[in-house]
Amino acid sequence: MTTYYDSIAQQYKKSKQLPFRLHIEAYTYFHLLGNIVGKSLLDLGCGEGFYTRQFKLLDADQVIGVEISEKMIELARLEEAREHQNIEYIVGDVFELGKIGSFDLVVASYLLNYAQSREQLLKISQSIFANLKPGGRFVTINNNDSQPLESYLSTEKYGFIKSITSPLIEGTPIKYTFTISDSKQQFSFDNYYLGTATYEWALRSVGFKEVRWQKPIVSPDGWQNLVKSFGRISLTVCP
Ligand SMILES: C[S@@+](CC[C@H](N)C(=O)[O-])C[C@H]1O[C@@H](n2cnc3c(N)ncnc32)[C@H](O)[C@@H]1O
Repeated sequence: MTTYYDSIAQQYKKSKQLPFRLHIEAYTYFHLLGNIVGKSLLDLGCGEGFYTRQFKLLDADQVIGVEISEKMIELARLEEAREHQNIEYIVGDVFELGKIGSFDLVVASYLLNYAQSREQLLKISQSIFANLKPGGRFVTINNNDSQPLESYLSTEKYGFIKSITSPLIEGTPIKYTFTISDSKQQFSFDNYYLGTATYEWALRSVGFKEVRWQKPIVSPDGWQNLVKSFGRISLTVCP
């Protein structure tokens, strides 16, 4: 399987070190996950395993990562070989995944925004639900579809902007552009816009009983670090 992420795998990995990703994105994600000690966890669209490895460090029991990009999985497996954590990485397409197990938690950071239509979102949601134990939870990070368009470029100083070239309707590509701090090197990829109501519809249609949205939270360290580096910070900084 070859995907666009094969060509940006290394740069994407570096972008995980941007301060807003560490102090806002990751902090909010782990806040939502709560205590995962002893839990089984399926990470869909796991990339090179940035979060997947951390789940194990937080004492999750079984952890499996599924990812469509072979290059991303290659990087994840390199880390696994360097420091053995007993994580299983599978190259696979979440759209076609079906049931591969029964997990306490299914997670996906920035995966749902690859669905370009309601139908595609429904398919991903089916894969998610099929892999959860009864009473299990799905936790995700996604494009913030209520971010005002005027602020898409205002996050440039944090190393990240969004842009669109056509009106924002369901299926419109949203270009994410990252600038890596040390090299000033840029790379971009597209996500797709779907509205909040569509997400809720898809998740409820496959069987989820409760859908909750969480705004980004800044870690206590993050306030100091981000304010020191950037001055006053704005919460639109997080995608
Ligand atoms: C923005 S990256 C996020 C990676 C990782 N979750 C993280 O937060 O570091 C999105 C990932 O989803 C993967 N992806 C996109 N469509 C997919 C699909 N249909 N099946 C599996 N993975 C997919 C991409 O290859 C990419 O690695």
